[in-house]
Formats: sequence, structure tokens, C-alpha cells
Amino acid sequence: MRFTTSILPTLSLLLLQTTKAIDLDIDSFPSIKEAAAQVAKDLASEFWDPTSYSGVPNGLGQYAWWQHGAILGAYVDYWHLTGDDTYNSNVTVGWLKGVSPSLDLLPKEHAFDIGNDDQGFWSIMSMDAVERVFPETDEQKKMGAGFLEITQTVHNTQDARWDNTTCGGGLRWQIVTIKGGYFYKNTISNGLYFQQSARLAKYTGNTSYADAAEMSYKWMRESNLIQDDYWINDGLDVNECTKLTTKRWTYNYGTIMAGCAAMYNFTTGSKRAYWKQELDNVLNSTYATFIDAETGALKEIQCQESKTCDMDQRSFKAYLVRWMGYTAQVAPYTYDTIMMHLRKNAALAAATCIGEPRGTACGQKWNVGAQWDGYHGLGEQINAMEVIQNIIPYVRPNIGLIFNSNNGGTSRSNPGGKGNTKTMRNWRLILAAEYAKHALRNYEIKAADRFGGAILTLLTLGLLAGMVVFVVTEPEVEEKSEEKKSEERPQPRSVVE
Ligand SMILES: *[C@@H]1O[C@H](CO)[C@@H](O)[C@H](O)[C@H]1NC(C)=O
Ligand SMILES: *[C@@H]1O[C@H](CO)[C@@H](O)[C@H](O)[C@H]1NC(C)=O
Ligand SMILES: *[C@@H]1O[C@H](CO)[C@@H](O)[C@H](O)[C@H]1NC(C)=O
Ligand SMILES: *[C@@H]1O[C@H](CO)[C@@H](O)[C@H](O)[C@H]1NC(C)=O
Ligand SMILES: *[C@@H]1O[C@H](CO)[C@@H](O)[C@H](O)[C@H]1NC(C)=O
Repeated sequence: MRFTTSILPTLSLLLLQTTKAIDLDIDSFPSIKEAAAQVAKDLASEFWDPTSYSGVPNGLGQYAWWQHGAILGAYVDYWHLTGDDTYNSNVTVGWLKGVSPSLDLLPKEHAFDIGNDDQGFWSIMSMDAVERVFPETDEQKKMGAGFLEITQTVHNTQDARWDNTTCGGGLRWQIVTIKGGYFYKNTISNGLYFQQSARLAKYTGNTSYADAAEMSYKWMRESNLIQDDYWINDGLDVNECTKLTTKRWTYNYGTIMAGCAAMYNFTTGSKRAYWKQELDNVLNSTYATFIDAETGALKEIQCQESKTCDMDQRSFKAYLVRWMGYTAQVAPYTYDTIMMHLRKNAALAAATCIGEPRGTACGQKWNVGAQWDGYHGLGEQINAMEVIQNIIPYVRPNIGLIFNSNNGGTSRSNPGGKGNTKTMRNWRLILAAEYAKHALRNYEIKAADRFGGAILTLLTLGLLAGMVVFVVTEPEVEEKSEEKKSEERPQPRSVVE
């Protein structure tokens, strides 16, 4: 992630709102699906280009690469929660752009700018894909780009960067040593490492990951990134370890919450009691900090009212609500309270989706009633999308389940994964043939496929002269097929088996 100056929205169109809006009945599955589909469509058509290295269409350089990982996570969940696979092939294309050829989510195009948090956002997306059993292609598997093995590889690379030499532990923000952020240990980098480790432990059952989660959490508590009163700070200065940046952001609370929830789920006995207590404290602190007492709306308190949120910060609420949805699944005792807040916020968010250019753009502020505040961007769309789709399990309790390797998960494990470091460091010297082995990123969708209607064909370009790699059928249009589709999605094996 990076520091950016805030870009003010165009306010001139504020008074020209059309009346299209998004009608959302939070008790109706078809209505929630329709609302999610509209918000997802607006996000995809304006702010997502999975075939580009940046993940966003040309001219939108203000968005950082990590947000592409965030978008992919949103569409993995979208598919899982709504059953609509419209965007699945683009998720795969975008994923392959990020993952290969270095096979560790450090693509050379972004190598200088990637911090542990950027890499972590992509790997937490792949963990979503693992736990939700998002389809993997044969080619993806053959080339070592399956979701679980990549998450494990990221874990290993971050493990190796864990730094006990300053401030008693922690991951630094930046990876490149000449950047200022190398001397900052921030909560999102460490919180994503913690969450990733905890979810790997829960999914694989491997206690090494749980040890890593425990170690990182302990450090965050001892370093006061997470204070005894559960105020969660943004980060600390490596040269002066007690110097904390005290800003509070929704996504930091969210990543700690989800990690505690996974650990609560994975552990037993007194350890489980410990994680329950930590989770309860983080939940209470989250509610007390970010929920507007008057309206029940989630607020990005640091910048929302002052209109100073930057392009990164405008999307943070999305990750808090995504991880609230995850927490409700793996720590079911939190479900009722979390769902109450999410359902309230889904309704509030949808009511703001009356903005330009098409009368369905969603606003940044959810505490203003049925008005659009003039903000229109990737952040506002992904925020609304996540909160709307994450209420689906409330009306369809068999949807949204999180799987483990022993009850339905299928992604291949490779705990020793190291990534393709040779390519990363010295990619120009690599023989074309070797590069080709890792050329998944050169897949592109052919525009002509739109004619076919039913079929999207993905072709490889560039060094791979190959032909059709995989074929994805588009969802059928009839309303009737939808229930059937959701039944076809992975179900947990029956407990009596
Ligand atoms: C997939 O991405 C391509 C390239 O940006 C785009 O043209 C296409 O419309 C996208 N498909 C969907 C369903 O959004
Ligand atoms: C860092 O310190 C922690 C806690 O003392 C320990 O568990 C871990 O193994 C250490 N890591 C390294 C790389 O020395
Ligand atoms: C468990 O995870 C550790 C750390 O990544 C790895 O070294 C070990 O091989 C894994 N064990 C199994 C059984 O997968
Ligand atoms: C969290 O808040 C609830 C409701 O106010 C309260 O009952 C509970 O004791 C709190 N939990 C912790 C760990 O403080
Ligand atoms: C652990 O998570 C699963 C979903 O993955 C859930 O069904 C189960 O109830 C959770 N266990 C506990 C103790 O909450």
C-alpha cells in the first residue's frame, strides 16, 4: 500500500441524480442477489480489468495493485454467496496475472511497490478461494498456481521476513529496504499474516500455522499495536518502538477479528477460551469504535466525515464487513450480533446507491440516509458489494459455509512452497522456455467470444503458442436455474458419513 493524497470526488453531478436506485429487501434472497449483481456489475464495468497488470482499466492509475487482490476476493465471495458465476473466469485471469511467474504473489511489475500487506491481501483472497472451493483450472494446477499452495508459499516467504531484531518481532511494512516503510511495522501487514496463518491452521489442521498465528498475535499485543483496551493502532516506528501511529481503521480491526475467530475455531479447551475472550474484546471494540450510535452505520471514523479518505482508505469498510461475515461462520456464537449489524448496513449502503453515472453508484457515507454523497469509485462499490452479499447466509443458512481440507476442500497442499525466486530476482536472464512454464499470466479473454454467448474461451498469448486452455460456460439466464445452481455448489459432507 502507499500513501496518496486524497482525491476529492466530483460534486457537480450531485443534484442531477437519476431515480434508478437499488431496491433491497434484506429478507428476500432474490432481492439481495439482484442488488449484489447490480453493484458487482458497476464495479466490474468501471473499475476492474483483470487482463491488465494493475487490475484496473487504463487511466485509473490512482488505484494500487493490492486492490486488485481485494477485488478478486470480493468476486470469489460473490460467486460463493450468490451462485452467479459470471465473473469466475475473470477472477482466474486476474489471479494468474498476479501470481505468475514468481509463484509467490510478488509480480515483477510491482516488485518495488509491494509491501507485506499488499502480498497479504492477495494471499487472503486465495485463502477465500481455498475455503470456498472456488474452481481451479487444470492448467493452473499444473503450473503450481493453485490457491492453497500459493497461500502457503506466501506464508513461508513472510515467515522468513519475520524480524525479531527490532521491537521484539513483527513484519515490517515494506519489503524493499530502501523505502521509508521498511522502518514501519504496521498492523495490516502483521494482521494479515496472523489471519492467514490462523486460517491455514484451521483449514489444513497443521499446528505449525497455529504457532505462527499465536506468535504474531502475542507480538501485536505486547508491542501495543493491539492495546489492552483493544484500541488497535495503525503501526509503530521501528526506530522508536513505543512510538505508535494511533489512527484506527476498520480493516485493521477486521483482520484481527477474523484471525481470532479462526483460532477460536481451531483450538480447544483453555486455548479456545483465550481466543474467545480476545475475539469478544475485538468485536466489542469494533462496534464501539465504528458503529454510529445514531444510525447504526459503519463509519471510517478517521477520514469519512472530514472527506479526507484516500483511494485505499475508501475501500477499507469492505474488508471489515467481509471478515465480519467470515467470523459469523467460523465462530457461530457471534452470528446474531454480526448479522444484525451487517443487515442494517446493507440496507443503509443500498439506499445510497443512487449516484451518477447510471443512477446506481453507491456512496461512501452510509450514515446519511437515502442520499449519495458524491463519491464514486472502486472503494464505494466494493464496500456496498461486500456488505450486501454478506447478508445472504441470514436468509439462506446453507450458503456461505467455510470448508476445511477434510470436509470438502480440494486445493492441493504444498507446505514447502518457496515460489519461483529465480524468476523474481533475475527474470530477464531466465530462458524463454522456463519463462513459458510460468506464463499463465499471458492468458487473455478473446472479445470475439461474446458472439458465442454461451462460451468464453480463454486463449494463451505471448510465449505460449498454445490453443484453448480451458472453457467456462456462462450461467444460464432463466431464473429457474438459480436454485439448482446453488445446490450444485460444494456442500459439506454429511456429519454421519
Ligand atoms: C472480463 O474482463 C474483460 C477485460 O476487462 C472485460 O472485457 C469483460 O467484460 C469482463 N467480463 C465480465 C463478465 O465482467
Ligand atoms: C522470534 O521470536 C519468537 C518469540 O520469541 C520465536 O518464537 C521465533 O522463533 C523467533 N523467530 C526467529 C526467526 O528467530
Ligand atoms: C506443516 O507446516 C509446516 C510449516 O509450513 C511445514 O514445514 C510442514 O511440512 C507442514 N506439515 C505437514 C504435515 O504438512
Ligand atoms: C461485550 O459487550 C457485551 C454487550 O455489551 C457484554 O455483555 C460483554 O461482556 C462484552 N464482552 C467483553 C469481553 O467485554
Ligand atoms: C468452526 O467452523 C465451522 C465452519 O467452518 C463451523 O461449522 C463450526 O461450528 C465452528 N466451530 C465452533 C466451535 O464454533
